[in-house]
Amino acid sequence: MVGTRDPKERIFVDEIADLAKSGDVEVMETVDMPDHTWKGNVGVITTLLPKAELDPSNTFVAMVGPPIMYRFVIAECRKKGIASEQIFVSLERKMKCGLGKCGHCQINELNTCIDGPVFCYTDIEAYQEAI
Ligand code: FES
Repeated sequence: MVGTRDPKERIFVDEIADLAKSGDVEVMETVDMPDHTWKGNVGVITTLLPKAELDPSNTFVAMVGPPIMYRFVIAECRKKGIASEQIFVSLERKMKCGLGKCGHCQINELNTCIDGPVFCYTDIEAYQEAI
């Protein structure tokens, strides 16, 4: 599932198209603000989740994007029955020095730059400031 604000902000367009054509994965894409060229889904990424047919026991979620999106996607994952240990979030946006020195990326005892930046949701869900 890929979401962007508008069609002009889409990235990896060719790679995503190749994945979709491969038949190995189902690709779902949406934009928040369509232009006259866009023929696909309109809405935020969470509008795609209810449309996904998945088995929560063998589904894993990897999220990259703005923190506010994580909250809503995680809530949708919960509705689908996906467990916290099957959800992974990327928090590299909080990095500054990247060396574990400045503390800018700190989430409680975790330094995003050296302990992450990708975390299993079980490792951070107790920390409100993480997401
Ligand atoms: S970015 Fe400075 S401690 Fe992590």
